[in-house]
Amino acid sequence: MNGNGPREAGTWRRVPSDASRQAAPSDAAWQADSEWRPAPGEVHLWRASLDLPPERVRELERCLSPDELARAKRFVARSVRDRYTTARAVLRNILAQYVSETPADLHFSYTEYGKPDLVRPATSLRFNVSHSHDLAVYALTAGQPLGVDVEYLHRRAIVDRLKIAHRFFSDREYNALASLPSYRRDHAFLACWTRKEAFVKAIGQGLSCPLDQFDVTVDPNEPAELLATHWDVSDAQRWSMASFDPGPGYIGALAVKTRDVRLSFWQWDHEQFE
Ligand SMILES: CC(C)(COP(=O)(O)OP(=O)(O)OC[C@H]1O[C@@H](n2cnc3c(N)ncnc32)[C@H](O)[C@@H]1OP(=O)(O)O)[C@@H](O)C(=O)NCCC(=O)NCCS
Repeated sequence: MNGNGPREAGTWRRVPSDASRQAAPSDAAWQADSEWRPAPGEVHLWRASLDLPPERVRELERCLSPDELARAKRFVARSVRDRYTTARAVLRNILAQYVSETPADLHFSYTEYGKPDLVRPATSLRFNVSHSHDLAVYALTAGQPLGVDVEYLHRRAIVDRLKIAHRFFSDREYNALASLPSYRRDHAFLACWTRKEAFVKAIGQGLSCPLDQFDVTVDPNEPAELLATHWDVSDAQRWSMASFDPGPGYIGALAVKTRDVRLSFWQWDHEQFE
């Protein structure tokens, strides 16, 4: 994956409607005899719309656990509540396909920083989720820690992006951003931001990790790459990163703790997997 950034502008494919439950997303094709399981070095990215009618959201929420329902209730704005509910229900439905379980019967644990893991059924499957505005993106792989981030591109230009970058990015990233012509900085800022967030989500620390303590590539025209962490010189050799196109109006990035990753892109169809 490293060194081939632009290739990650993949097409989001739909699962063929006649695919059997055993069929698996794979770069090659749908293999009727394979399991829903990423091959070694493969990451499956799924995207799902979170813009559903309220009655559909009420159906979906039936698979949520009591703690998820309680969390949903704490969101005051209904639109936010419904998007959280939909994102969580789709996560359960996607994972259920991979581990051959009922969505409501999946159990998650959470790290001290809030990163969810699937603990029941026991599995080596790793996942991470990001949602922004009307879109959720799910990344799944076997065994390796990974993180994903998606951001909605507001039409407005980002105010004070250099000031924000100066405060949060590393010196190397700030200098890279400042060296770009002004008209390219909004996109570069968000490319850098999503790459950094994907990484801090992959290591599980989220924004508790000081963002100025590691460097990623900034220019969207450059391959996404972890250049260095300030705490372990060998990290850059262990991680892969990719920017990808989640769809019009969004930008996304992925970080995985392995080299030579292959990505495949899948569109979640709300009607297909009830
Ligand atoms: C994780 C974090 C970077 C997410 O940023 P964001 O851009 O607002 O949100 P995203 O949509 O990209 O990601 C949210 C998803 O990431 C996952 N997530 C939550 N915490 C995570 C973490 N520490 N690492 C990786 N993934 C995490 C969850 O699946 C979450 O989805 P959910 O809210 O529907 O459960 C940010 O919220 C954070 O730093 N949280 C840590 C807060 C913390 O330390 N909490 C401790 C007590 S729980």
